[in-house]
Amino acid sequence: MNYSDMVSETWRHGELGAAPHDYRALVRYATLAASSHNTQPWIFKLESNRIQVLPDLSRRCPAVDPDDHHLYASLGCATENLLLAAQAAGLKGLCRFDASTSGLQVDFEEAPAARSALFDAIPLRQCSRSEYDGAPLSAEELEQLQGAGHGDGVSVLLMTDADQKGLVADYVAKGNDAQFADPAWARELKSWIRFNGKEAVHSGDGLYGPATGNPDVPRWLGLLAMKGTFSARNQNKKDYRHIHSSSAIAVIYSETDDIPHWIEAGRCYQRLALQAAALGLRTAFINQPVEVGRLRPEFARAIGIDGRRPDLILRIGRGPEMPRSLRRPIGDVIR
Ligand SMILES: Cc1cc2nc3c(=O)[nH]c(=O)nc-3n(C[C@H](O)[C@H](O)[C@H](O)COP(=O)(O)O)c2cc1C
Repeated sequence: MNYSDMVSETWRHGELGAAPHDYRALVRYATLAASSHNTQPWIFKLESNRIQVLPDLSRRCPAVDPDDHHLYASLGCATENLLLAAQAAGLKGLCRFDASTSGLQVDFEEAPAARSALFDAIPLRQCSRSEYDGAPLSAEELEQLQGAGHGDGVSVLLMTDADQKGLVADYVAKGNDAQFADPAWARELKSWIRFNGKEAVHSGDGLYGPATGNPDVPRWLGLLAMKGTFSARNQNKKDYRHIHSSSAIAVIYSETDDIPHWIEAGRCYQRLALQAAALGLRTAFINQPVEVGRLRPEFARAIGIDGRRPDLILRIGRGPEMPRSLRRPIGDVIR
């Protein structure tokens, strides 16, 4: 399959009604969730009336994510999609953290089928790393985003002032300075870049160049181009423009810094991003200040959430759709 065929095959609704207990159909929706570097660090174990969502530790990113926070948040993202798809298929999913696997156990029971606006938005959501139009969001839009983005021990802080955006941009720049100075971080990032459609289709994972605003080029050319342009200075300029073009910045943060809350934070992100997509809004992550460990507490203090763990940072606004990222076949993630 070529890249555009694979995009159409991936980013679509499927037939849930025909086979309400087709767990593979639910897993397909789960895999459309976000994941750090598009690593898709999940395994789905299908059992009778149950799906276990397990971490795939072979897909860790130790440089950018040394404590596996993003890996577990990604599990939460996938689980949220799974629960929304189950609900649309007439199954209520009861979800609990299983300390013996560090994964989630979702038990299903029959329920009336309910197709929510968030479920409908699953194929619409993407990380849109483009410039937005900066237009303010309405009070109702902000309220809906706030409502979607909180969970058990997890809250969302929405910031819309220019001063607050400036503060976030300053911390993103500090994060870029630290990350670009770290050769292990740069090596790891490059290993997840798919410079062209052929590479993206071949692996079904990773960061497809055009989805991050770069042209589709042969690998050798992409690597050569990076030699001249890959710098904290360039990234800071781009992030500054992107942040100030956004209508709002959302920080998802937890009361407790542990795996169950990291997973919950991922579920909150997924709902918030789906709610944004349902409202015709775009979202993209700007996580640098929470990825660089020494900046995290300082950032939390600066935005008024001292003592809590800031998990994920997003910008929200209206802007163009970007090229799509791909997914691995579901056969590769089912056990
Ligand atoms: C926990 C987590 C952290 C992420 N961090 C970043 C980030 O710092 N910068 C970024 O551009 N994208 C980030 N992403 C977005 C992923 O790269 C994106 O979800 C993946 O490439 C798949 O693309 P899609 O969400 O558009 O389908 C993150 C995603 C997750 C779940």
